[in-house]
Amino acid sequence: MSTFWSVFIIVLVVGQVVGALWLLQAFTRAPRAPQADTTGHTWDGDLKEYNNPLPRWWLVLFWLTALWLVVYLLLYPGLGSFQGLRGWSQQNQYAEEVAAAQARYGDVYAAFADLPLAELADNPEAVRLGRNLFLNRCATCHGSDARGARGFPNLTDDAWLWGSAPETIQATITNGRVGVMPALGAALGEQGLNEVVAYLLSLSGRGAADPAAVQAGQQKFLQYCSACHGPQAQGNQMLGAPNLTDDDWLHGSSEEAIRDVILNGRQNQMPAQKDFLTADQIRTLVAYVLSLQQG
Ligand code: HEC
Ligand code: HEC
Repeated sequence: MSTFWSVFIIVLVVGQVVGALWLLQAFTRAPRAPQADTTGHTWDGDLKEYNNPLPRWWLVLFWLTALWLVVYLLLYPGLGSFQGLRGWSQQNQYAEEVAAAQARYGDVYAAFADLPLAELADNPEAVRLGRNLFLNRCATCHGSDARGARGFPNLTDDAWLWGSAPETIQATITNGRVGVMPALGAALGEQGLNEVVAYLLSLSGRGAADPAAVQAGQQKFLQYCSACHGPQAQGNQMLGAPNLTDDDWLHGSSEEAIRDVILNGRQNQMPAQKDFLTADQIRTLVAYVLSLQQG
């Protein structure tokens, strides 16, 4: 928060508190002796309102509330960028709760620390814990059944961007991945784009494309695409470049969708989990992801 806004907020808060107290003060200065004065309002001809002071206990409540507010503002953040004497913040509280949960549940996951990754998938307890974590942290993107959605890979099939070896899946979850498909529309030009798309459709057995276009497309593919997708378009898991010969499409299978990926490129990110989950928790996630393959 900049100094200006900090001061602005402090002035606003203090001003309101002082204003409220002044109001309280001013209106309780009314004469103590009852019936000494009326508010001057008259209803129905002769009905008058006496200007009696608030009952004392009520007044005391107001002053206590004000006192509580002052104590609160001293202890907790509320006055601009002043942190409060207790140093409380939502982030600290969250960190403390996470640490407490870690201390309490840490052992549950630690039980699997010595089992080889590949064997974990056969351990029902590890898979169960992994599934719970998955529903919490992964289902928003990959779906609660792990079947993915457009742009988010299906984890239950055998098409892998980065690879299905247990250690590879562990690395994917721990460190995250960024799949970068460059925008190649400008390099290919309109005609080149059509030819490459014709070639790709022919690879997955679709489209009655003109053989000359397919052939020209293949040439373009070797020139612009094979470095990442491989000369046979089978993909390269070192780069997360998908196999383009199967009928599994991450970004949509329609001709339009395929054309759009090549024209505009894609940057697709799997977020790293190492700052949120312990290594042992990630191991149970690997177990769960591997177990999906057996199903
Ligand atoms: C914010 C969305 C998001 C969340 C949350 C997320 N993922 Fe992903 N995940 C992705 C995307 C996007 C990719 C594909 C990255 C790419 O295109 O290279 C991916 C890729 C993967 C892959 C690699 C798939 C392959 O084909 O190689 C695995 C395994 C995976 N995620 C598991 C997980 C697990 C386990 C979690 C929970 C801890 C998780 N993901 C949470 C978006 C997400
Ligand atoms: C720098 C490496 C690189 C080059 C060069 C490259 N690609 Fe890609 N391509 C990728 C990656 C990585 C992805 C996956 C993007 C993601 O993770 O979302 C991808 C995705 C795609 C997809 C989407 C696949 C799907 O399952 O939805 C198509 C289609 C595609 N590329 C075609 C091409 C064509 C055609 C060329 C050449 C004109 C090309 N790519 C050049 C790396 C590359």
